[in-house]
Amino acid sequence: MQVDMSVNLLGLKLKNPVMPASGCFGFGKEYSKYYDLNKLGAIVVKATTQKARLGNPTPRVAEVTCGMLNSIGLANPGLDKVLSDELPWLKSYSLPVIVNVAGETVEEYCSVVDRISRSKLAHAIELNVSCPNVAQGGLSFGADSKVLSELLKRVRGVCSLPLIVKLSPNVTDIVEIGLAAQEAGADAISLINTLIGMKIDINTGRPVLARKVGGLSGPAIKPVAIRMVYQLADVLKLPIIGIGGIYTAEDVIEFIMAGASAVQIGTANFTNPMAMPDIIDDLERYMKEKGIKDLDQIRGCAL
Ligand code: FUM
Repeated sequence: MQVDMSVNLLGLKLKNPVMPASGCFGFGKEYSKYYDLNKLGAIVVKATTQKARLGNPTPRVAEVTCGMLNSIGLANPGLDKVLSDELPWLKSYSLPVIVNVAGETVEEYCSVVDRISRSKLAHAIELNVSCPNVAQGGLSFGADSKVLSELLKRVRGVCSLPLIVKLSPNVTDIVEIGLAAQEAGADAISLINTLIGMKIDINTGRPVLARKVGGLSGPAIKPVAIRMVYQLADVLKLPIIGIGGIYTAEDVIEFIMAGASAVQIGTANFTNPMAMPDIIDDLERYMKEKGIKDLDQIRGCAL
């Protein structure tokens, strides 16, 4: 039986629903040594800011039960270098390139989105309003529906590409935030970013991360992510990209059944660089075994 894993996301043709989560794949170069990136549905690159950022002091990652904590602090080479050295290389691949954009101010978000939109080096923007690891910007734009609306209206004015908004689980009411994003002009939602967590070294009695707290990712957060994707799929008209603790093809199926159009894979890439191609192969096998011809057949069936 032939199965069709393709997804039409905001007019972009994805061969399959699998793409990396921003920050877990750099700009793709390291992973391209392991497999042909054309295997993926799309690529999502590390958050890009106006100026280069070194990120937070170390230690900034820690392993925890069923996942990891990170407090990277949006380390990236800055917009000029991303446009000159990182994105052009990805043009040799035939798949959509999604650039994650972060900022400390509305002006910074707008300026970065504007230049990326006009560069012809990206197919969509993913707006990062959910990074929990910075003192300014990040989550502070995504935790309040009014602040988020103001940002999105301004960004919309300079963004000629499809605009995906990456939401945080660290909010009281994800539905209120999702509806605000839809109303203010988002074309799609991706969620969830990490949950704020902490680890203490019981030998020193001190937090393990230099910044004390960080974002929890990995299998531990999958049920939270499934719940939030489900809640938003129930009320939004926009496509949703599900993220959170995906390690297997069965996890992908669960997100699609919750209403996701596509998925992003993050922490799994750190334990197995072949995680995404393996999951794509397994997904095809799973669909054949279960007689699922295409993903529309099961998308949102749990709603
Ligand atoms: O700290 C970081 O760079 C993480 C970014 C994010 O979670 O969006």
